[in-house]
Amino acid sequence: MADLTTNFVGIKSPNPFWLASAPPTDKEYNVRRAFDAGWGGVVWKTLGAEGPPVVNVNGPRYGAIYGADRRLLGLNNIELITDRPLEVNLREMKVVKRDYPDRALIASIMVPCEEEAWRAILPRVEDTGADGIELNFGCPHGMSERGMGSAVGQVPEYIEMVARWCKQYTRMPVIVKLTPNITDIRKPAQAARRGGADAVSLINTINSITNVDLDLFAPEPTIDGKGSHGGYCGPAVKPIALSMVSEIARDPETRGLPISGIGGVTTWRDAAEFMALGAGSVQVCTAAMTYGFGIIKEMTAGLSRYLDEKGMTMDDLVGRAVPNVTDWKHLNLNYVTKARIDQDLCISCGRCFAACEDTSHQAIGMSEDRTFTVIDEECVACNLCVDVCPVEGCIDMVELEPGTTDPRTGKVVEAKPADWTTHPNNPAAVAAE
Ligand SMILES: Cc1cc2nc3c(=O)[nH]c(=O)nc-3n(C[C@H](O)[C@H](O)[C@H](O)COP(=O)(O)O)c2cc1C
Ligand code: SF4
Ligand code: SF4
Repeated sequence: MADLTTNFVGIKSPNPFWLASAPPTDKEYNVRRAFDAGWGGVVWKTLGAEGPPVVNVNGPRYGAIYGADRRLLGLNNIELITDRPLEVNLREMKVVKRDYPDRALIASIMVPCEEEAWRAILPRVEDTGADGIELNFGCPHGMSERGMGSAVGQVPEYIEMVARWCKQYTRMPVIVKLTPNITDIRKPAQAARRGGADAVSLINTINSITNVDLDLFAPEPTIDGKGSHGGYCGPAVKPIALSMVSEIARDPETRGLPISGIGGVTTWRDAAEFMALGAGSVQVCTAAMTYGFGIIKEMTAGLSRYLDEKGMTMDDLVGRAVPNVTDWKHLNLNYVTKARIDQDLCISCGRCFAACEDTSHQAIGMSEDRTFTVIDEECVACNLCVDVCPVEGCIDMVELEPGTTDPRTGKVVEAKPADWTTHPNNPAAVAAE
């Protein structure tokens, strides 16, 4: 069994799987059961300042997008930070940390963007024995209307300022949780690093309206005939999160800054992908809300088995794919592939034909007996047929060996890589060596 022990900015946990700050972590009852199930850590549901707690809506607070089998693909929420009193949360955090000393317990915090507010709450959180803090600069709804959450996360100068206050007023490691509702994710990450943050975590939820009720003519979830945008998460956001994580991992200004990866993690594979792109830990919310805490068993067993099969440690995995993330201009234009259909697997549904014939390159032929074959003279290797084929592994993209002729272009495939930076059609091309 591979060792999954994690040390993320000095925060130790038996595995890299933490529950993200959200309903699964909003009270002692939940967190104890999560730890008993095997979760390595939790980021407690976001704490607010001392005083009357926030008030949530009393109507529906979630909306969803489903796949054809009604599997939940995306979740939208208009929930605010914790609506329980600060002292209750702090008391519960303290006893949980005392009883589960080997698990990571991180406090998520969102208070007004004023030095005094941060100075006041930090010692109280530290007193719980929490292992670290996560600054919630991400919530895109409700709290942002009050100048907190993503309203802070969208202004790099504020991020830097608050991170600096936190480093000044606490010994705990500081993780800055970023909002994806921004054009260039590298800017807030750079600001967090400038402010002295130990790490960033991302992504928080994405501004979204999941559906419009066509009888009420109002967004869902609908509260007495009206709706407001919510925060989107779940499997649908994973590609966005992976891209943002990779941008931070490879940016010269933030390279090496520890990252806790969040967004659609549902299986060990998702987690391994985040880790390969540079995440030292991962956080999970929607998958736990959909399937319960028990999914941790598949996650730890799967990751451990994968590492064993590869003969790798977690350290080997973290960041392993980062050098392979590049700009488009550096992709090898001499790498030529063609689609190949495995006739034994094909069920003759014709989806590849429809897609290629109507919207791609008319590169799939259909015979009278519904045998589908690729016409190499036309195939540009776009991959659309692979993407629409309902049978996994039925269509592959096969590389043409260097020295063979591409029947589409009539050109011999060259072994030496060449990219756009040296291509003759590029007016800004530099001469190839
Ligand atoms: C109902 C709900 C409430 C959430 N509340 C918080 C919160 O209080 N603080 C926070 O930082 N993130 C909050 N989040 C965002 C999650 O922590 C996480 O960043 C996001 O859901 C993406 O992860 P996922 O795709 O695994 O759900 C919430 C998400 C949901 C669905
Ligand atoms: S890869 Fe693209 S062009 Fe080639 S057969 Fe498939 S859909 Fe057509
Ligand atoms: S989409 Fe796949 S299964 Fe359907 S005809 Fe094409 S190759 Fe066969």
